[in-house]
Amino acid sequence: MYKAPRGTSDILPAEQAYWKYVEEKAISLCQLYGYQPLSTPLLEDSQLFTRTSASGTDIVDKEMYIFKDRGGHELALRPEGTAPVCRAYLQHGLFSLPQPVRLYYIGATFRYERPQAGRYRQHQQFGFEAIGDADSALDAEVIVMARNFLLSLGLIQFTIQLNSIGCKLCQPRYREILKKHYTALNSIQGHLCSDCQTRLERNPLRLLDCKNASCQEMADTAPKTVDFLCPECRAHFQSLQEYLSILGISFQFNHRLVRGLDYYTRTVFEIQPGKGTTQQGALGGGGRYDNLIEELGGEFTPAVGFAAGMERLILKLKEEKISIPPLPEPVVFIAYLGSEAKNEAIKLAFQLRQVGIATIVAVGDKSLKAQLKQADARGTSYAIIIGKEEIESQSAILRDMKSGEQKIIPLAKVAETLISR
Ligand code: HAM
Repeated sequence: MYKAPRGTSDILPAEQAYWKYVEEKAISLCQLYGYQPLSTPLLEDSQLFTRTSASGTDIVDKEMYIFKDRGGHELALRPEGTAPVCRAYLQHGLFSLPQPVRLYYIGATFRYERPQAGRYRQHQQFGFEAIGDADSALDAEVIVMARNFLLSLGLIQFTIQLNSIGCKLCQPRYREILKKHYTALNSIQGHLCSDCQTRLERNPLRLLDCKNASCQEMADTAPKTVDFLCPECRAHFQSLQEYLSILGISFQFNHRLVRGLDYYTRTVFEIQPGKGTTQQGALGGGGRYDNLIEELGGEFTPAVGFAAGMERLILKLKEEKISIPPLPEPVVFIAYLGSEAKNEAIKLAFQLRQVGIATIVAVGDKSLKAQLKQADARGTSYAIIIGKEEIESQSAILRDMKSGEQKIIPLAKVAETLISR
């Protein structure tokens, strides 16, 4: 028996209501804030990610699905949505539109991770990006959108974690100071995990969010990014906090927040699921990436964005026992007995659908009991039963599936009766 590959899942009909719910809330949110939809391919040139996310990040070093196609081109299944959006922005000249350009996407993302609750090899991201302006009011807009999205889903147990990691000018100095801190502590305590030993040389910022207990101890006493920001980055972070405070948005300052991708500058933020959750990691995260478009060959184009993992949101909805609207089910099931009645049933189903009544019609030659069992399983409100007698009298039995009450009505009046009910 074949099974879906490890870390991927089928979304069965019973689960689809959650997906529709989250997608609809995502789309209404984006409409409310003036973000336009953009879809990019699942496949991209692998360098789009290796150049923008940089080596030294888990995503590039360990998690990308990379392969050569039959033409020998190295492609990757997209591990995230921001770089593809920036690629599309450049490829289609969206820089010639009034800036910032506000875009959103919903789509599958692939990372070769160790599967566990809330961590999969294929997951679905909802993300939005505002490209073309450095104003911290845009950072505030994106953070508020992320928060309001979760609230619109009915989720309330979450926190917004915020930090600023500086820019090309101030971050290198901070990296050096951080490296010194870890090297000094490690020479006394010798507790850095093997991953962090490598990070120390290649990507010291990532030392701050290592989950290993002994590395975490060293991170607690590490110098803070915000104490090393240049005046422009400090002012940017300050004004962002002022916008959030004007709007009454609470957040937690987290000096260890650096994010798992390497393109961030200045603002970084994450939405954490709050206490008592069984799942791994953030519900969503984002930040500013002012150099990414320039790294892809464009002009300097500051930008900011956010993405949330839809599976994690759905797990959280279930955890918080939030009830969601069910998907619409067909209204009526048509059952029949005998071949003449079958012809009439098929004709009636066709007519009912023509007038917009969602209808399932039986097939084959099952007993009436089996047919009604099927109607019951699908939760239709009514069943129409047609047998030999009904054909002769040009009538049909209308059965209310909840009460079991039955009524004989003229065949020609089935649609009218169902509409009036
Ligand atoms: P990210 O934090 O790597 O950021 O991913 C965004 C969200 O996707 C995470 O917060 C999490 O909810 C979900 N996620 C990530 N990996 C998995 C996984 N293996 N299984 C299930 N869910 C997962 C980005 O990807 C950035 N592109 C976000 C961004 C947009 N930054 C600026 N604009």
